[in-house]
Amino acid sequence: MSEDVLLQAEDIVTHYGRSQALFGVSLKVPGRGGVAILGRNGAGKTTLLRTLAGDLRPSRGTVRFEGRDCTRMATEKRVRRGLGHVPQEQAIFGSLTVRENLLVGAMGDRTGRQRIDEMLDLFPRLGQRLTQKAGTLSGGERKMLAISRALLARPHLLMLDEPTEGVWHGVIEEIAQRLEQLSREIAILIVEQHVKLALRVSRYCYVMDRGHIALEGPSETLRDDPELVRLLAP
Ligand SMILES: Nc1ncnc2c1ncn2[C@@H]1O[C@H](COP(=O)(O)OP(=O)(O)OP(=O)(O)O)[C@@H](O)[C@H]1O
Ligand SMILES: [Mg+2]
Repeated sequence: MSEDVLLQAEDIVTHYGRSQALFGVSLKVPGRGGVAILGRNGAGKTTLLRTLAGDLRPSRGTVRFEGRDCTRMATEKRVRRGLGHVPQEQAIFGSLTVRENLLVGAMGDRTGRQRIDEMLDLFPRLGQRLTQKAGTLSGGERKMLAISRALLARPHLLMLDEPTEGVWHGVIEEIAQRLEQLSREIAILIVEQHVKLALRVSRYCYVMDRGHIALEGPSETLRDDPELVRLLAP
Protein backbone atom coordinates (compact mmCIF):
# COMPACT_ATOMS: atom_id res chain seq x y z
CA MET A 1 0.00 0.00 0.00
CA SER A 2 2.94 2.38 0.34
CA GLU A 3 3.50 2.75 -3.42
CA ASP A 4 1.78 5.67 -5.20
CA VAL A 5 -0.63 6.80 -2.49
CA LEU A 6 -3.23 9.04 -4.12
CA LEU A 7 -5.23 10.02 -1.07
CA GLN A 8 -4.13 9.88 2.53
CA ALA A 9 -6.27 10.80 5.52
CA GLU A 10 -4.65 11.01 8.93
CA ASP A 11 -6.29 11.10 12.34
CA ILE A 12 -9.56 12.59 11.10
CA VAL A 13 -12.01 13.82 13.74
CA THR A 14 -15.38 15.15 12.53
CA HIS A 15 -18.27 16.57 14.55
CA TYR A 16 -21.88 17.46 13.76
CA GLY A 17 -22.29 20.39 16.09
CA ARG A 18 -21.25 19.04 19.48
CA SER A 19 -21.80 15.42 18.53
CA GLN A 20 -18.62 13.60 17.48
CA ALA A 21 -18.97 11.17 14.55
CA LEU A 22 -15.34 10.32 13.65
CA PHE A 23 -12.66 9.54 16.24
CA GLY A 24 -9.26 9.68 14.58
CA VAL A 25 -9.69 7.87 11.25
CA SER A 26 -6.67 7.21 9.02
CA LEU A 27 -6.73 5.61 5.59
CA LYS A 28 -4.83 5.43 2.31
CA VAL A 29 -6.02 4.99 -1.25
CA PRO A 30 -3.45 3.92 -3.88
CA GLY A 31 -3.45 5.22 -7.46
CA ARG A 32 -4.97 2.09 -8.94
CA GLY A 33 -7.49 -0.47 -7.76
CA GLY A 34 -10.39 -0.22 -5.41
CA VAL A 35 -10.53 0.40 -1.67
CA ALA A 36 -13.73 -0.47 0.24
CA ILE A 37 -15.19 0.89 3.46
CA LEU A 38 -17.62 -1.38 5.28
CA GLY A 39 -19.51 -0.96 8.54
CA ARG A 40 -22.94 -1.10 10.12
CA ASN A 41 -25.52 1.68 9.77
CA GLY A 42 -24.32 4.76 11.61
CA ALA A 43 -20.67 3.61 11.75
CA GLY A 44 -19.51 6.87 10.13
CA LYS A 45 -18.91 5.83 6.50
CA THR A 46 -20.84 8.69 4.91
CA THR A 47 -19.35 11.18 7.36
CA LEU A 48 -15.86 10.01 6.36
CA LEU A 49 -16.52 10.33 2.61
CA ARG A 50 -18.12 13.76 3.06
CA THR A 51 -15.10 14.87 5.09
CA LEU A 52 -12.73 13.65 2.35
CA ALA A 53 -14.86 15.38 -0.30
CA GLY A 54 -14.80 18.71 1.58
CA ASP A 55 -18.54 18.83 2.48
CA LEU A 56 -17.64 18.57 6.16
CA ARG A 57 -14.68 20.26 7.82
CA PRO A 58 -12.75 18.00 10.21
CA SER A 59 -11.96 19.41 13.64
CA ARG A 60 -8.65 17.51 13.63
CA GLY A 61 -6.48 15.63 11.16
CA THR A 62 -5.32 16.08 7.58
CA VAL A 63 -6.38 15.01 4.11
CA ARG A 64 -3.73 14.84 1.41
CA PHE A 65 -4.65 14.31 -2.23
CA GLU A 66 -1.92 13.71 -4.83
CA GLY A 67 0.69 14.87 -2.34
CA ARG A 68 -1.02 18.16 -1.53
CA ASP A 69 -2.69 19.10 1.74
CA CYS A 70 -6.34 19.73 0.86
CA THR A 71 -7.83 19.61 4.38
CA ARG A 72 -9.22 23.12 3.99
CA MET A 73 -9.71 23.16 0.23
CA ALA A 74 -13.24 23.88 -1.10
CA THR A 75 -15.19 20.95 -2.54
CA GLU A 76 -15.27 22.48 -6.04
CA LYS A 77 -11.51 22.81 -6.10
CA ARG A 78 -11.08 19.20 -5.02
CA VAL A 79 -13.36 18.13 -7.88
CA ARG A 80 -11.29 20.16 -10.35
CA ARG A 81 -8.14 18.50 -9.03
CA GLY A 82 -9.60 15.06 -9.68
CA LEU A 83 -11.35 14.04 -6.47
CA GLY A 84 -14.84 12.85 -7.46
CA HIS A 85 -17.69 12.01 -5.08
CA VAL A 86 -21.01 10.27 -5.69
CA PRO A 87 -22.92 11.03 -2.48
CA GLN A 88 -25.37 8.62 -0.88
CA GLU A 89 -28.29 10.94 -1.63
CA GLN A 90 -29.21 13.89 -3.87
CA ALA A 91 -26.60 13.23 -6.52
CA ILE A 92 -28.82 14.18 -9.48
CA PHE A 93 -31.28 16.95 -10.43
CA GLY A 94 -34.71 15.28 -10.40
CA SER A 95 -36.51 18.02 -12.35
CA LEU A 96 -33.96 17.98 -15.21
CA THR A 97 -33.86 15.33 -17.92
CA VAL A 98 -31.11 12.72 -18.09
CA ARG A 99 -29.52 14.62 -20.98
CA GLU A 100 -29.61 17.91 -19.04
CA ASN A 101 -28.08 16.25 -15.99
CA LEU A 102 -25.21 15.00 -18.14
CA LEU A 103 -24.75 18.36 -19.86
CA VAL A 104 -24.51 20.12 -16.48
CA GLY A 105 -21.93 17.52 -15.42
CA ALA A 106 -19.89 18.12 -18.57
CA MET A 107 -20.02 21.93 -18.39
CA GLY A 108 -16.86 23.72 -19.34
CA ASP A 109 -15.29 20.64 -20.90
CA ARG A 110 -14.54 21.09 -24.62
CA THR A 111 -14.78 17.35 -25.17
CA GLY A 112 -17.89 17.11 -23.00
CA ARG A 113 -20.18 15.72 -25.73
CA GLN A 114 -17.72 12.99 -26.52
CA ARG A 115 -17.45 12.18 -22.81
CA ILE A 116 -21.24 11.94 -22.59
CA ASP A 117 -21.17 9.39 -25.42
CA GLU A 118 -18.57 7.43 -23.45
CA MET A 119 -20.91 7.44 -20.44
CA LEU A 120 -23.75 6.15 -22.61
CA ASP A 121 -21.45 3.33 -23.74
CA LEU A 122 -20.71 2.57 -20.09
CA PHE A 123 -24.40 2.62 -19.11
CA PRO A 124 -26.47 2.02 -22.28
CA ARG A 125 -29.72 2.15 -20.27
CA LEU A 126 -29.21 5.88 -19.86
CA GLY A 127 -29.15 6.32 -23.63
CA GLN A 128 -32.74 5.08 -23.79
CA ARG A 129 -33.82 7.60 -21.16
CA LEU A 130 -32.19 10.83 -22.35
CA THR A 131 -35.38 12.90 -22.48
CA GLN A 132 -36.87 11.48 -19.28
CA LYS A 133 -36.88 13.55 -16.07
CA ALA A 134 -34.22 12.16 -13.75
CA GLY A 135 -36.70 12.20 -10.85
CA THR A 136 -38.71 9.46 -12.59
CA LEU A 137 -35.78 7.07 -13.09
CA SER A 138 -35.54 3.74 -11.31
CA GLY A 139 -33.14 3.37 -8.37
CA GLY A 140 -30.50 1.68 -10.55
CA GLU A 141 -30.80 4.25 -13.34
CA ARG A 142 -30.41 7.09 -10.83
CA LYS A 143 -27.21 5.54 -9.53
CA MET A 144 -25.89 5.11 -13.09
CA LEU A 145 -26.66 8.75 -13.83
CA ALA A 146 -25.02 9.91 -10.61
CA ILE A 147 -21.87 7.87 -11.38
CA SER A 148 -21.80 9.19 -14.96
CA ARG A 149 -22.10 12.78 -13.78
CA ALA A 150 -19.16 12.36 -11.43
CA LEU A 151 -17.09 10.65 -14.16
CA LEU A 152 -17.65 13.55 -16.56
CA ALA A 153 -15.31 15.62 -14.38
CA ARG A 154 -12.56 13.05 -15.16
CA PRO A 155 -11.71 12.11 -11.55
CA HIS A 156 -8.44 10.40 -10.68
CA LEU A 157 -10.19 9.06 -7.61
CA LEU A 158 -13.92 8.39 -7.48
CA MET A 159 -15.55 8.02 -4.05
CA LEU A 160 -18.89 6.19 -4.17
CA ASP A 161 -21.31 6.10 -1.24
CA GLU A 162 -23.52 3.00 -1.54
CA PRO A 163 -23.78 2.73 -5.34
CA THR A 164 -26.21 -0.22 -5.11
CA GLU A 165 -28.51 1.11 -2.37
CA GLY A 166 -32.14 0.96 -3.52
CA VAL A 167 -31.14 -0.86 -6.70
CA TRP A 168 -33.11 -3.90 -7.87
CA HIS A 169 -30.95 -7.05 -7.50
CA GLY A 170 -31.08 -7.74 -11.25
CA VAL A 171 -29.27 -4.46 -11.96
CA ILE A 172 -26.72 -4.71 -9.14
CA GLU A 173 -24.55 -7.06 -11.21
CA GLU A 174 -24.45 -4.56 -14.07
CA ILE A 175 -23.25 -1.81 -11.73
CA ALA A 176 -20.74 -4.18 -10.10
CA GLN A 177 -19.20 -5.02 -13.48
CA ARG A 178 -18.87 -1.35 -14.40
CA LEU A 179 -17.19 -0.61 -11.07
CA GLU A 180 -14.73 -3.47 -11.60
CA GLN A 181 -13.97 -2.06 -15.03
CA LEU A 182 -13.53 1.45 -13.61
CA SER A 183 -11.23 0.24 -10.83
CA ARG A 184 -8.78 -0.89 -13.51
CA GLU A 185 -8.69 2.65 -14.95
CA ILE A 186 -8.91 4.97 -11.93
CA ALA A 187 -8.77 4.73 -8.15
CA ILE A 188 -12.03 3.95 -6.40
CA LEU A 189 -13.08 4.35 -2.77
CA ILE A 190 -16.38 2.58 -2.27
CA VAL A 191 -18.78 2.46 0.68
CA GLU A 192 -21.07 -0.52 0.27
CA GLN A 193 -23.52 -2.59 2.35
CA HIS A 194 -23.30 -5.40 -0.15
CA VAL A 195 -20.19 -7.05 1.32
CA LYS A 196 -19.47 -9.54 -1.47
CA LEU A 197 -19.64 -6.79 -4.06
CA ALA A 198 -17.38 -4.52 -2.01
CA LEU A 199 -14.75 -7.22 -1.58
CA ARG A 200 -14.95 -8.07 -5.27
CA VAL A 201 -14.32 -4.53 -6.55
CA SER A 202 -11.64 -3.71 -3.96
CA ARG A 203 -8.09 -4.81 -3.24
CA TYR A 204 -7.98 -3.36 0.26
CA CYS A 205 -10.72 -2.89 2.81
CA TYR A 206 -11.41 -0.85 5.96
CA VAL A 207 -14.18 -1.77 8.41
CA MET A 208 -15.60 1.03 10.53
CA ASP A 209 -17.28 0.76 13.90
CA ARG A 210 -18.64 3.71 15.91
CA GLY A 211 -16.49 6.30 14.18
CA HIS A 212 -13.25 4.27 14.24
CA ILE A 213 -11.45 1.96 11.82
CA ALA A 214 -11.93 -1.34 13.65
CA LEU A 215 -10.33 -3.68 11.09
CA GLU A 216 -8.38 -3.35 7.84
CA GLY A 217 -6.52 -5.55 5.41
CA PRO A 218 -6.37 -6.93 1.87
CA SER A 219 -9.90 -7.81 0.70
CA GLU A 220 -8.76 -11.36 -0.10
CA THR A 221 -7.80 -11.92 3.53
CA LEU A 222 -10.74 -10.12 5.15
CA ARG A 223 -13.22 -12.20 3.19
CA ASP A 224 -12.71 -15.12 5.61
CA ASP A 225 -12.04 -13.13 8.79
CA PRO A 226 -14.58 -13.95 11.55
CA GLU A 227 -13.99 -10.46 12.94
CA LEU A 228 -15.56 -9.04 9.77
CA VAL A 229 -18.78 -10.98 10.39
CA ARG A 230 -18.84 -9.79 14.00
CA LEU A 231 -18.33 -6.14 13.03
CA LEU A 232 -21.10 -6.23 10.43
CA ALA A 233 -23.64 -8.14 12.53
CA PRO A 234 -26.64 -5.97 13.44
N1 LIG B 1 -26.33 15.66 9.48
C1 LIG B 1 -26.11 15.06 10.65
N2 LIG B 1 -26.30 15.68 11.83
C2 LIG B 1 -26.07 15.07 13.01
N3 LIG B 1 -25.62 13.81 13.13
C3 LIG B 1 -25.41 13.13 11.99
C4 LIG B 1 -25.65 13.70 10.70
N4 LIG B 1 -25.34 12.78 9.75
C5 LIG B 1 -24.94 11.68 10.42
N5 LIG B 1 -24.98 11.89 11.77
C6 LIG B 1 -24.61 10.91 12.81
O1 LIG B 1 -23.24 10.53 12.62
C7 LIG B 1 -23.06 9.14 12.82
C8 LIG B 1 -22.48 8.50 11.56
O2 LIG B 1 -23.43 8.61 10.50
P1 LIG B 1 -23.09 8.25 8.99
O3 LIG B 1 -24.21 8.75 8.15
O4 LIG B 1 -21.74 8.73 8.68
O5 LIG B 1 -23.10 6.65 9.06
P2 LIG B 1 -23.03 5.58 7.89
O6 LIG B 1 -21.99 4.60 8.30
O7 LIG B 1 -22.89 6.24 6.59
O8 LIG B 1 -24.49 4.89 8.03
P3 LIG B 1 -25.42 4.24 6.87
O9 LIG B 1 -24.87 2.88 6.61
O10 LIG B 1 -26.77 4.16 7.54
O11 LIG B 1 -25.42 5.13 5.67
C9 LIG B 1 -24.44 8.58 13.18
O12 LIG B 1 -24.50 8.48 14.59
C10 LIG B 1 -25.41 9.63 12.68
O13 LIG B 1 -26.58 9.66 13.45
MG1 LIG C 1 -24.09 6.29 4.90
